[in-house]
Amino acid sequence: MSIDRPRISRRIAAISESATLAVDAKAKALKAAGRPVIGFGAGEPDFPTPGYIVEAAVTAARVPRFHKYTPAGGLPELRAAVAEKTERDSGYRVEASQVLITNGGKQAVYEAFAALLDPGDEVLVPTPYWTTYPESIKLAGGVPVDVVADETTGYRVSVAQLEAARTDRTKVLLFVSPSNPTGAVYSRDEIEAIGRWADEHGLWVVTDEIYEHLVYGDAEFHSMPVVVPELADRTLVLNGVAKTYAMTGWRVGWLVGPQDVVKAAANLQSHATSNVANVSQAAALAAVTGDLSAVAEMRTAFDRRRQTMVRMLNDIPGVFCPVPEGAFYAYPSVKELLGKEIRGKRPQSSVELAALILEEAEVALVPGEAFGTPGYFRLSYALGDDDLVEGVSRVAKLLSEAR
Ligand SMILES: Cc1ncc(COP(=O)(O)O)c(C=O)c1O
Repeated sequence: MSIDRPRISRRIAAISESATLAVDAKAKALKAAGRPVIGFGAGEPDFPTPGYIVEAAVTAARVPRFHKYTPAGGLPELRAAVAEKTERDSGYRVEASQVLITNGGKQAVYEAFAALLDPGDEVLVPTPYWTTYPESIKLAGGVPVDVVADETTGYRVSVAQLEAARTDRTKVLLFVSPSNPTGAVYSRDEIEAIGRWADEHGLWVVTDEIYEHLVYGDAEFHSMPVVVPELADRTLVLNGVAKTYAMTGWRVGWLVGPQDVVKAAANLQSHATSNVANVSQAAALAAVTGDLSAVAEMRTAFDRRRQTMVRMLNDIPGVFCPVPEGAFYAYPSVKELLGKEIRGKRPQSSVELAALILEEAEVALVPGEAFGTPGYFRLSYALGDDDLVEGVSRVAKLLSEAR
């Protein structure tokens, strides 16, 4: 007997695989098969987690209390430390009760939208966007509305663009600075203008601050609810230890917001995943109560690689890359190369061009389609200097054959 029901629910079937993780997996598989692939796909620092953080985890693993369930919303000492760290790093004063410890920043993203959105509620999403945002908005029943900014504005959206996209269904503005995938960093004035506009229209703000410590040159990080304090009661700040302390695998992030929303998200988490692994929380506690010297060291290396990469990319005919000011990604336009002949093929899209580059140059890049803007690539510069130069040189050599 056949039952006329899909095997996979429509809601889950509509989710696509994370394109960034897929590219990374493909590059790693080719490497394992002996091909000398250089991967620019990874969204993680190439440094190990600092030793004192690892030691704190080793100690915690021996503590019987940590072998048991702990409060779903996070270890009280970690919630308090995150509140303190938030004030130390961004000037945003919050209570421990306004902090929810999550299984990585990703769970904070998911729970923020789940807690705020009813079916049909619209979220303004500055685009290019990090690939997880629209999926978590849709999972929560919301509607992502892309607000596209291109290389001519350094991928920063303006108030006029946001206003043009606002409707009476708009509930939330998503704001990410420094940005993944573009590395764009908004100035304090821009943040103030956008924040005031959001406040004027009664919007909520979900602001992802996970790259707060990775800004270069004259760029500065500013937290929107600090710049526009009137927004605090309608703002959720997302953050985590992954990028600042090279702790992507430990899976600790957090959501900071008004108590009613934090409580609602904690209720969801209490049924979905319960507490984050205690050993990881103990490691995160050592991280956020320690100093910022490890990230300062990484920042120096990333800054050097950023400059090398952008210079090399802009030397390739048909490639244009604005200088990223934060995070660890470059986002060049390759639109001029599409439709040209390279090694007997004519790639028509950045997906096709990325496939050709992987095949012919053995270099893995993430095509802009993954971030809502075909015609671009995202390259992470969180990899060793030698591999970076070798990888971009291979791409340059191949693309210079375009006719
Ligand atoms: C903008 C942004 N937010 C959040 C995250 C989530 O990081 P994690 O879940 O590893 O803490 C990432 C990871 O790539 C990111 O780029």
